[in-house]
Amino acid sequence: MAVGGQPGPFRGLSYVAGAQLARALAAWLAPCFAALAMGCDQSMYTQPKLTPYAPDPRAPQGTSARLLVPGVQPHGSVPAEQIPESIPVPVTMSLLKRGQERYGIFCVPCHGPVGNGEGILPAYGFPSPPSYLKQELLSAPDRHFFQVITNGKDKMYAYADRVPRPDRWAIVAYIRALQRSQHASLADVPPGIGIPENGQ
Ligand code: HEC
Repeated sequence: MAVGGQPGPFRGLSYVAGAQLARALAAWLAPCFAALAMGCDQSMYTQPKLTPYAPDPRAPQGTSARLLVPGVQPHGSVPAEQIPESIPVPVTMSLLKRGQERYGIFCVPCHGPVGNGEGILPAYGFPSPPSYLKQELLSAPDRHFFQVITNGKDKMYAYADRVPRPDRWAIVAYIRALQRSQHASLADVPPGIGIPENGQ
């Protein structure tokens, strides 16, 4: 059945011959593609290997990675005893503004804008942080906040590599302001600021 030439790569072949050739090519190429696809799966991930600290009798300490030397500190961490008890710089309005900005970037997602622990991440299932307004944290020294930002605590990871030291103190100052804002008394109102009679 000569139906005339086909356009494209099979030009000059009859329709039937072209179709047969295409089928033969497909049959030949299919296993090649399958083999290629299987080859892709043989990544380094699936090869035999030791995961960190997996038991390894050949290693000097019996584990695939060397154990940490006692007293070793993670990069950027600061031992608690080296942190000053109180904010070591003057608490100025510009420090508070810087702290507010950094707090908004790094802490609000979990701790919430007022520090009560009701950020957006806990709403999506991340473990809820404690409120800064609980008594334990109201009476904790400034150092404690600096230490938690620097080294992390339990489920909260460390921010030492993202928040430089001066910014950590700025954040601590701002957290102090948040705590005070929720426990303010009339005596905290600066002189000269009137309070309307009707409380509005
Ligand atoms: C991804 C969520 C997340 C972010 C972001 C986060 N935290 Fe936390 N934070 C937590 C969780 C969870 C805890 C509770 C940790 C625990 O005890 O398991 C916590 C606990 C704390 C505590 C209380 C520690 C105590 O003694 O109970 C402080 C203070 C704190 N965070 C400060 C900060 C500051 C400051 C920032 C921003 C630099 C920040 N956190 C960012 C999740 C977060």
